[in-house]
Amino acid sequence: MIGTANGYHVPITGLGAHVPERVVTNDELAGLVDTTDEWILTRTGIRERRVAAPEEALSDVCLPAARGALRAAGVEAGAIDLLIVATVTADMAFPSTAAILADILGAHEAAAYDLSAGCTGFMYALAQAYGMLAGGLSRRALVVGGDVLSKLMDWHDRSTMVLFGDGAGAVVLERVERGGFLGFELGADGSGGPDLYLPAGGSREPASAQTVAEGHHYIRMNGREVFKFATRILVSSAQQLLDECGVAVEDVDVYVPHQANVRIIEHARRKLGIPSERTVVNVDRYGNTSSGSIPLALADAVKDGRLKQGELVLMTGMGAGLTWGSALIEWTQEEGVAA
Ligand SMILES: CC(C)(COP(=O)(O)OP(=O)(O)OC[C@H]1O[C@@H](n2cnc3c(N)ncnc32)[C@H](O)[C@@H]1OP(=O)(O)O)[C@@H](O)C(=O)NCCC(=O)NCCS
Repeated sequence: MIGTANGYHVPITGLGAHVPERVVTNDELAGLVDTTDEWILTRTGIRERRVAAPEEALSDVCLPAARGALRAAGVEAGAIDLLIVATVTADMAFPSTAAILADILGAHEAAAYDLSAGCTGFMYALAQAYGMLAGGLSRRALVVGGDVLSKLMDWHDRSTMVLFGDGAGAVVLERVERGGFLGFELGADGSGGPDLYLPAGGSREPASAQTVAEGHHYIRMNGREVFKFATRILVSSAQQLLDECGVAVEDVDVYVPHQANVRIIEHARRKLGIPSERTVVNVDRYGNTSSGSIPLALADAVKDGRLKQGELVLMTGMGAGLTWGSALIEWTQEEGVAA
């Protein structure tokens, strides 16, 4: 799917972010499996990640981010009419984490649902919210991207457990006079599904003593194939969207790629021709936070002063599905980020 904005101005008017308190360093992981800080750092760029406490579920991590976004936008929860939570680690299969969050926040007028598109979830959710606002169905949307992948990780599997971390970000979208999203490019290739999946717990392989004993409730990944996909798609999706919007890559002020691996980001940035100082990288501190990755990176860019009003921001996500999604937005938020 590809398209440009149809004349309605829908920007991000509030941004919030939150990560769990507990920091887990590479050295700590090296105490659990056969790995080293040096291997993790050189292969991924990750130094540390945040890990949710045993009693912390997704909604607990999303709540401060959601409240921060509402505060930054100056919007009451009761004025939100659409609440989407992009995630693959919902509190439970149902009810949706979005419905749980809406209740806690007091967003009683909101349609609320979860959206599953792997690490691309936040990009898909942005596009959906944009469509509902531009179409006149929604007036104020709260889009949350968050995951607690630490809960789905096999802590004995060194090929996956070093990569992921927990975190969430949230944005408020409203119709205003100027600025906002210029366009989106989204896609999925289900043939690549087996490269990144979690076998059990759904209707294909319901939970049983056997699925638990065989470790089917943990993330499985073909790292090399995902790496190849990621390096290709981050470039092609962004290029297609820039072409569709008639925007030259030199005009992109801030590039916010999915934070999976610094080598993937570096490859995409070089191929696209975006200078490193315009590229947001925080994978070193958070690892891959899945749907939390892009909003957490946006929050960092606002905090460090790189993301200012009037600037053009290119974001691209990719992940399980396999899925991908890019968005181009003119940043309109004047204030900083509330977390
Ligand atoms: C996972 C990833 C970091 C592995 O890096 P790589 O350079 O491709 O490494 P390889 O897979 O070639 O593995 C090299 C060796 O390191 C080993 N290895 C894997 N994980 C290791 C770890 N944590 N510590 C030490 N060694 C490890 C492998 O077993 C392999 O050993 P072998 O050669 O004896 O078989 C990389 O493929 C990657 O980032 N893929 C994308 C993953 C991703 O982003 N997923 C989420 C998408 S949303």
